[in-house]
Amino acid sequence: MPSLSVVRAFNAAFTPAYIPVAIFVGGTSGIGQGMAEAFARHTKGNAHIVLVGRNRAAAEAILATFPKPTAPGVTHEFVACDVTLMKNVRRVAGELRARLPTVNFLVLTPGVLTMNGRNETEEGIDRKLAVHYYGRWRFIRDLLPALEAAHAAGQDAKVMSVLAAGHGGAIDLDDLGLKQTFSLANAAAAAPTYMDIAVNDFGARHPQISFVHSYPGLVRSGALKASDSRFMKAANVLVPLLTPFSYSVEQAGEHQLYALLKAGAGPVRTDDKGDDIGLTKAYYGSAEAMARLWTHTEDATA
Ligand SMILES: *[C@@H]1O[C@H](CO)[C@@H](O)[C@H](O)[C@H]1NC(C)=O
Repeated sequence: MPSLSVVRAFNAAFTPAYIPVAIFVGGTSGIGQGMAEAFARHTKGNAHIVLVGRNRAAAEAILATFPKPTAPGVTHEFVACDVTLMKNVRRVAGELRARLPTVNFLVLTPGVLTMNGRNETEEGIDRKLAVHYYGRWRFIRDLLPALEAAHAAGQDAKVMSVLAAGHGGAIDLDDLGLKQTFSLANAAAAAPTYMDIAVNDFGARHPQISFVHSYPGLVRSGALKASDSRFMKAANVLVPLLTPFSYSVEQAGEHQLYALLKAGAGPVRTDDKGDDIGLTKAYYGSAEAMARLWTHTEDATA
């Protein structure tokens, strides 16, 4: 249970001998923003940082606060992408892949807080599952060659999906994607379990790369206020009461960055402090689930 000061010191000690390339999908708000800001701070701006999201104005305001790079040719940039559509994810990942020979850190945090039922995109995927699982999975899959290239160059090669490691539930292998049995409870159980299985599977296929699935805890991220649910919007007034039990975006950014920088190769699951929780606790996967989910996800995101 490292304290915030220990975590900050650990992150500050990250001084790579190369200029890192870090992509934050969902880095325009909440935990992703906190992580991107922490990363910019600790690298003193000397990192190629890409914020991927929908909100250009938010991204530009965040980028403007980053320390200005002193190393030549280093940029901080925004790339627009609505992650609910796989065609967007594939296009943006392809564009990034084409111009970034190496990627050292790929962080995925996009989220939606909704109490509505299944809401399909034109591609037939539920929007909540699209941003929490399918879109993230496709970004990882399509950027793997650039992560492999970073590893081959002797650099860090790490992926992190911030969702709810260890907080999933049992899944129905005959209804992956929840087309028949969608409910908020089933969706809340499925996405973390899919992600747990995905980090195990990616880790088995690419054992030199770190694949972290984390649980961020309660973060005062503004997600309640931004929710499409009137109940959740109303609940936002309670947020100050939760302050002692929750993290600010800045605190969560440090703890989650710590988990990322500390992670060894292969699959890793971490908690809100950034500590490793192992791969077996509250794990609802199996060899069969892994094989079927991979095929399902390839099809669904293709
Ligand atoms: C489905 O999602 C779209 C896009 O976010 C939104 O405009 C629409 O209101 C949602 N529909 C329902 C029934 O929640």
